[in-house]
Amino acid sequence: MEDLLSKIIEKNRYLISKGAVADYIPALSKVNPNNIGICIMDVDGNNYKTGNYDVKFTIQSISKIMSLMLALIDNGEDKVFKKIDYEPTEEPFNTLFKLDFPHTVKPSNPMINSGAIVTTSLIKGKGEERFNRLLNFIRTVTENPNISYNEEVYLSEKDTGHKNRAMAYLMKARGFIDGDVEEILDVYFKQCSIEVTTVDIAKIGLFLANRCKLLEQDTKVCDARIASIVTAIMATCGMYNFSGEYAATVGIPSKSGVGGGILGTIPHKMGIGVFSPTLDQYGNSIVGYGIMSDLSKELNLNIF
Ligand code: DON
Repeated sequence: MEDLLSKIIEKNRYLISKGAVADYIPALSKVNPNNIGICIMDVDGNNYKTGNYDVKFTIQSISKIMSLMLALIDNGEDKVFKKIDYEPTEEPFNTLFKLDFPHTVKPSNPMINSGAIVTTSLIKGKGEERFNRLLNFIRTVTENPNISYNEEVYLSEKDTGHKNRAMAYLMKARGFIDGDVEEILDVYFKQCSIEVTTVDIAKIGLFLANRCKLLEQDTKVCDARIASIVTAIMATCGMYNFSGEYAATVGIPSKSGVGGGILGTIPHKMGIGVFSPTLDQYGNSIVGYGIMSDLSKELNLNIF
């Protein structure tokens, strides 16, 4: 298996130069563009790791699935989806479009920034507690107590996240956000700057695949219905306005982040973590997409 994974990495390496690292968050522009890593974990307990699988990168939008899970645990499905919708969008991930329509329109889904900021606002806790609960939840699911956030990336996002700030205040004005906007944005910026490896995100994928149960532990961390909701939203919205083509060509429910990570989950089967920092026009890892397509074909993973 590792041989196959190495071959897939080398086959897609040329794509590095066809993309670009995210530079709208200045601290992200400093990452090494040449790292490529893969980790696969299946429900039978097999792990396969290749390349720069243990290099840390910021989780970015992949954190949106964790904040969604915690918001669902804290509030239940009905309350969460009163404030955000379940629907894909043709707009890019950082859009404000529709939020200021004369008739009130909810953020389309929890995977775009507006929806994710609302999701974060729904996590219970005061001050630091909200972020700490999210961090602890990520540590529990990854079984990695050392996960923390990158202070430089966090401050860089806080400094330059004007568009996120604009949409958060607009949503506050439209009644989608309760509480202090700056405090909520602070949690959002911090959660995006949490550092993980492909092993950590593969573990999250496996947790979803295993219906919210940690492998080798009997107790469910949360209800299986949460895995079902999150996986469906990943399949329809997880790769932003490329989600339809991705579903048709790869067929693995996935979530990307501008740090270069892609997390895949195959219900009842496996979790996949892929990392390569250069991005395509949608903000998805360009090598990551190539790798996921090849994995899907070679290992027959397309769920559709
Ligand atoms: O808010 C932002 O723009 C970033 N912190 C996260 C965006 C992101 O990862 C989009 N993903 N592909």
